[in-house]
Amino acid sequence: MKKRIGILTSGGDCPGLNAAIRGVAKASYGMFDCEIIGIKDGFKGLIHNNYQVMTPKDFAGLLVRGGTIFGTSRTPYKKMRKIEIDGIDKVKNMKENYAKMELDCLITLGGNGTHKNANLLREEGLNVIALPKTIDNDIWGTDVTFGFHSAVDIATEVIDRIHTTADSHDRVMLVELMGHKAGWLTLYAGIAGGADVILIPEIPYSTDKVLDSLDKRHSSGKNFSILAVSEGAVTTKESKMKKKEFKKERAKMKHSSVSYRLAHEINEELGLETRVTIPGHQQRGGTPSPYDRILATKLGAYAAELIANRDYGKTISIVNKKLWATPLEEVAGKLKLVDKDNILISTGRLINTSFGD
Ligand code: F6P
Repeated sequence: MKKRIGILTSGGDCPGLNAAIRGVAKASYGMFDCEIIGIKDGFKGLIHNNYQVMTPKDFAGLLVRGGTIFGTSRTPYKKMRKIEIDGIDKVKNMKENYAKMELDCLITLGGNGTHKNANLLREEGLNVIALPKTIDNDIWGTDVTFGFHSAVDIATEVIDRIHTTADSHDRVMLVELMGHKAGWLTLYAGIAGGADVILIPEIPYSTDKVLDSLDKRHSSGKNFSILAVSEGAVTTKESKMKKKEFKKERAKMKHSSVSYRLAHEINEELGLETRVTIPGHQQRGGTPSPYDRILATKLGAYAAELIANRDYGKTISIVNKKLWATPLEEVAGKLKLVDKDNILISTGRLINTSFGD
């Protein structure tokens, strides 16, 4: 019997989503008789029954294409069971539309929020398989997520380009990188780009220590410095605050971004000229790197194997280069953060990189 497979992409986009969609489609068409339904704009499309029936030729040319052909949106998990002003029961709608589309299973491509929503649908009795995507690389249970290495390449190139202009102008340059609450992207790009200071959320920084390391560097004759700063970096004082107090303190600050604040402090205290670069969503844009094309294809093709075996309620993880089908309930709601004895941190310390601690 023909299998009907729904696919949606949810949360922030990233390079590799289309490559993963293509992987699912090509492997599924090759393995069993199926029809693929592209659900539009993430869970929103499932809630509002907005979808498109795909044909095999719709999946051509996707390996190198950035973004997501299905569109995406953020549908926060904490709001899923809430009836909001529009009066829509989102969970009920999703279940009804899954049935109306006559789906055998739903493939969700997304990050942490998506995994929580996918697990919710699993609990509600739907057949779900999740694929881990995010430039933040913070999905628990998998060594790597697709999108991450493309973002590392982009962020590293930014730092590389900053080097020459920092050198020409004798400046302290701060590059603020994405990653939400996780420092993976900043840590990898910071080490790859040779940043002198790397600040990540997992290692709260002391402004004095950052100033001290810059002062030492410049006093020893270096004419410029590069700081790779996670958007989620916090000071030691902030790291001890409760969420409410933290938000209140941040709201009072003149500069909403951590790197602008730090740039101001460096300039005031050390008299060094500073500039801030925030590549922002460029880190999520454009074609996936070869690494991500391969990873996304592997994960997508593996999803088709799980569909063939009716092995649902899983997310696909990659651990020590091996693919695993991990139960969704083991992953949903957990974050994979950089741990303090990560080899890149010890390597950074050995080459005199300051982590601000
Ligand atoms: O989760 C991916 C991510 O790019 C984070 O690194 C960043 O904090 C966030 O999304 C930005 O979200 P938005 O696209 O909604 O601005």
